[in-house]
Amino acid sequence: MNVQNSPTTLGRFITIEGGEGCGKSTQTKQIAHRLSKLGLDVIITREPGGTDNAEAIRELLLNGGDNRWDSRAEALLFAAARGDHVRNLIKPALIRGQWVLCDRFLESSRAYQSGGSGLSDATILQLHNIGSEGFLPDRVLVLDLDEDTANKRVFIRDGDVRDRIGGRPKEFHTAVRQAFRDYAQQDSERIKLIDAGADSDEVTDSIMDILQDMINA
Ligand code: TYD
Repeated sequence: MNVQNSPTTLGRFITIEGGEGCGKSTQTKQIAHRLSKLGLDVIITREPGGTDNAEAIRELLLNGGDNRWDSRAEALLFAAARGDHVRNLIKPALIRGQWVLCDRFLESSRAYQSGGSGLSDATILQLHNIGSEGFLPDRVLVLDLDEDTANKRVFIRDGDVRDRIGGRPKEFHTAVRQAFRDYAQQDSERIKLIDAGADSDEVTDSIMDILQDMINA
């Protein structure tokens, strides 16, 4: 079943994307709060993870040395985790009429495993077709932040500790940021680029403006 095209679907699926330290978690919570105040039934989830199986895969993906997985195995693991998450958490919630806010989703695989790691975008989309039947968010919010500010925020949050992927070199993260920006340009109807450098309440205001048509629908 394609939930997105089902007339019985009341919920909406929104993903929050961007590089390290761009404020995704804060914005996800703030948007959830604002949408709930409007009377909507909202849940928050995240990737990699969200279900027990996907959280188990998260441990495999984020711990260990940088060369633990090659780029293909890594992309397959993300796709497998996502498939479980879509099937067992996201789609059931949408069918119940809930709004699902997801901290990272497919565009992270496109940006990190393709933009940053050299697989083609077509390969990542193919894996998504296999793992999640090509299921797409209604809207993708990409938080865009200059690297110096992002690095400072990560340092304040995590000190020197980085996970397997977050700890990759500067060039990797530069490529990831550019990839996110490219996707927003290529599919501007669905993927929205947001300046995440402003005060966090102002960023939430901009996001709420972007979601207004869906809220009113
Ligand atoms: P997380 O601790 O959730 O980081 P953040 O707070 O930055 O969201 O770790 C997730 C890491 O996994 C992050 O470095 C991005 C990476 N990632 C991918 O490489 N591909 C993906 O498809 C997803 C969902 C995440």
